[in-house]
Amino acid sequence: MAENRILSVRDLKTHFFTREGVVRAVDGVGFDLAPGQVLGIVGESGCGKSVTALSILGIVDHPGRIVAGRILLRPARGGPPVDLAGLDPKGRRIRSIRGGEIALIFQEPMTSLSPVHTIGQQVSETIRLHRRRGRRQSREQAVEVLRSVGIPDPERGAKLYPIQLSGGLRQRALIAQALAGEPRVLIADEPTTALDVTTQAQILDLLRDLRKRRGMAIILITHDLGVIAEMADQVLVMYLGKGVECTPVDRIFHSPEHPYTRALLSSMPGLGAAAKQALPSIAGSVPPAFRRPSGCSFHPRCQEFLEGSCNRTEPEPVMVRPDHEVLCLRRGPNDPAGHSPPDELSENGHFVSKPDTLSRNRTPRSRIKKRRD
Ligand SMILES: Nc1ncnc2c1ncn2[C@@H]1O[C@H](COP(=O)(O)OP(=O)(O)OP(=O)(O)O)[C@@H](O)[C@H]1O
Ligand code: SF4
Ligand SMILES: [Mg+2]
Repeated sequence: MAENRILSVRDLKTHFFTREGVVRAVDGVGFDLAPGQVLGIVGESGCGKSVTALSILGIVDHPGRIVAGRILLRPARGGPPVDLAGLDPKGRRIRSIRGGEIALIFQEPMTSLSPVHTIGQQVSETIRLHRRRGRRQSREQAVEVLRSVGIPDPERGAKLYPIQLSGGLRQRALIAQALAGEPRVLIADEPTTALDVTTQAQILDLLRDLRKRRGMAIILITHDLGVIAEMADQVLVMYLGKGVECTPVDRIFHSPEHPYTRALLSSMPGLGAAAKQALPSIAGSVPPAFRRPSGCSFHPRCQEFLEGSCNRTEPEPVMVRPDHEVLCLRRGPNDPAGHSPPDELSENGHFVSKPDTLSRNRTPRSRIKKRRD
């Protein structure tokens, strides 16, 4: 694990062993996260984004479990990384990491906040548990945390129950609860999907500010490519449980390599579309969880499908640039169609992107940003 990484996930696999068969919800996901970095995870519904988050925190529902891979967390006090995938999900170590080192904000605040405790009680309980403060001090600090996330009149707000707050304030309360343990990594799973555009912008501003002030690393899961363009430094694109492309955000919008990423971007509407754009739909549909296509699982929908290769051989990750990983047989020097002549290899031996046939359809990052303003 590199020194400047806080979290490194390697070939993570989490499967659900149901009566109907095995659902390979996460089936080969990897990424690195540095302090203060925002990693955006994007992909269609059911591709394994939330199960990846739940796996990191060791809270995958029965009948699911991590079957392979490593989740390496660098401890705050130094020392060798801890492999979260190897910890007992009910043990003391992961319970102290959960909420203390890594916190999760779910999409729907009402299901995550207790309806029978006030906001102040919930935030101060997290402070008491993870920062080991007394009850009185926890209560005082809870008010400060509520203030820091923009709850107006936090002394009064602390005494309110979730049902008494608006959607935006509930989401702020949830963020306050997540921050109360002073985590180094915040996982935000669709944190703004249920909110109106103005509140969404305020919550994103808040996350941006927290990252700047606290150097907190954020894993941001979203359907919204506009949010990715605005917030992320690095992007992981997922399809059917696998990470299919991982690279810095500009590259996702300006020179995407994976046919799935290209299809997502080329099906995005242009300027003038509604500011809040869900992940666009692309041709075909995601196959049922139990019937995974042979070879490359994207092949029934892929524009660059090659008979005899794509439907037979499972792709291995290829580094098309030093910081750009792609899971596609037709990228890199071993393209079975022979579309990658040697003169497209750079000096350091990495494949350099070939002319992009979809470039005419791409939506530049700046346009996506503008569209949201
Ligand atoms: N408890 C469970 N039992 C069986 N299968 C499950 C369970 N939880 C999730 N899955 C399956 O795992 C796969 C990945 O689900 P996940 O919730 O991670 O998708 P997602 O990418 O977060 O989708 P969305 O964008 O809709 O939130 C899906 O096929 C889902 O049906
Ligand atoms: S391996 Fe083949 S089917 Fe899969 S994404 Fe690449 S070109 Fe498409
Ligand atoms: Mg989800």
